Amino acid sequence: MSKQTVKRRTVLDLQKMKESGEKISVLTAYDFPFARLMDQAGIDVILVGDSVGSVVSGYDTTLPVTMEEMLYHTRAVVRGSEQALIVADMPFLSYQIDETEARRNAGLLVKEGGAHAVKLEGGVNVADTIRTIVNMDIPVIGHIGLTPQSVHRMGGYRIQGRAEAQAQQLLADARAVADAGAFAMVLEGIPAALAKEITETVSIPTIGIGAGVDCSGQVLVIHDILGLCDKYSPKFVKRYADISGTIRDGIDAYIREVKDGVFPAEEHSF
Ligand code: KIV
Repeated sequence: MSKQTVKRRTVLDLQKMKESGEKISVLTAYDFPFARLMDQAGIDVILVGDSVGSVVSGYDTTLPVTMEEMLYHTRAVVRGSEQALIVADMPFLSYQIDETEARRNAGLLVKEGGAHAVKLEGGVNVADTIRTIVNMDIPVIGHIGLTPQSVHRMGGYRIQGRAEAQAQQLLADARAVADAGAFAMVLEGIPAALAKEITETVSIPTIGIGAGVDCSGQVLVIHDILGLCDKYSPKFVKRYADISGTIRDGIDAYIREVKDGVFPAEEHSF
């Protein structure tokens, strides 16, 4: 029997979804099993976020994440998925030095990682970088507002765009990202009214995280929605499950059975 081919989401599908008003669902994944589960559930886009640094590697910020780490996680996610569009984050220092390095690193995420698109943080300041990557025919998602790679400039993970001048700057950033050829942009940690205005201003889809309900779609970190990360939970996270307890119960039971000589039983032995 021939294997049924599954059609992957494309950047064109996301544009159509914005136009038709269908919301775009995005989650992060960093490995094969999570990618497989969310792909089977029908997620539109999987983001291999540099949040991997915080929720998987245990760093305090996303800044230490390297290209090698992003390539490793992107390959695993691509192998675990059939129908979702896979977007790989460009880690800190992979696109800020110069355009040649930015082009090479974006290319590596597609060529060696297997990603279908890349994401990078910034607005007006990275518009030329977005343009040069788009000119290589690599689709780019922008990311403005609370941009975690700018944690030290922002003085912490603070909501952006509350003051009028900051809001105007974010509108300029959104226009610059769209004009540079990005096919979508993440709006993180900004007031809902500003996210609505940006979504109505630019023609490309906006993907919100802590940016209200009027964005074209939503993204969250998988570890946050499943209760797998107890380090810090921002207000914008909704917990849809609490699997830490289930995991701990399983591990407790295993340790007990090993100590008591109950595992392995006869059916597990040869
Ligand atoms: O790294 C990441 O996971 C992200 C999303 C939270 C937008 O950039």
